[in-house]
Amino acid sequence: MRILAFSASLRKDSLNGKLIEIAARLAREHGAEVDLADFSELVMPNYNFDVEKQGFPQECIALGKRVEGVQGIMVSTPEYNHSFPGTLKNSLDWLSRLRPMPLRGKCVQILSAAPSLVGGNRAAEALSTPLEVLGMHVMPDRFSLNTANEAFDEQGELLDPKRLERLDGAIQYFLRVVKSMQLMD
Ligand SMILES: Cc1cc2nc3c(=O)[nH]c(=O)nc-3n(C[C@H](O)[C@H](O)[C@H](O)COP(=O)(O)O)c2cc1C
Repeated sequence: MRILAFSASLRKDSLNGKLIEIAARLAREHGAEVDLADFSELVMPNYNFDVEKQGFPQECIALGKRVEGVQGIMVSTPEYNHSFPGTLKNSLDWLSRLRPMPLRGKCVQILSAAPSLVGGNRAAEALSTPLEVLGMHVMPDRFSLNTANEAFDEQGELLDPKRLERLDGAIQYFLRVVKSMQLMD
């Protein structure tokens, strides 16, 4: 089982970066091979149909190949103005233009981390719409880490074992779905 994992934040001390690192470790503990990408490798020039007609950017072709090589994706998204970052939408827009479209039929686990009391719920919900439109199997249990600015210790580990347990449950469910989809192929 190969999984691509990334946080859709470019900043160094990203809360979503910490969360996706833990999610990737848990997935590995459950037997998955995880390609943990830095988001700076996945961002692209602004989508422009005129540019597309001249050829896809290298970043898009590279990400398309990376997605083709996995059965599932885990993405931890920040919440920007009640939605997910435009940088991620731009990469999805480019990917959606590739043929065959590499996201179609893949499973995706959405996670989010935000300092607010409601976490990144609205970003996670907003992100599920384009992913579903693109034919992905979006896990119904979106993992949202609220008060995320207080959630990690200095080593980047979750302080509350119950939150770790809940995250582990979501990852295990996701991997079971990925596995069952493979069996159906
Ligand atoms: C442009 C912008 C908009 C934001 N809008 C929201 C928001 O709507 N809801 C929220 O909970 N946090 C919002 N935040 C705060 C982010 O959740 C916070 O900066 C978070 O740490 C970003 O994720 P990261 O740590 O992974 O980079 C916003 C931050 C920025 C920079």
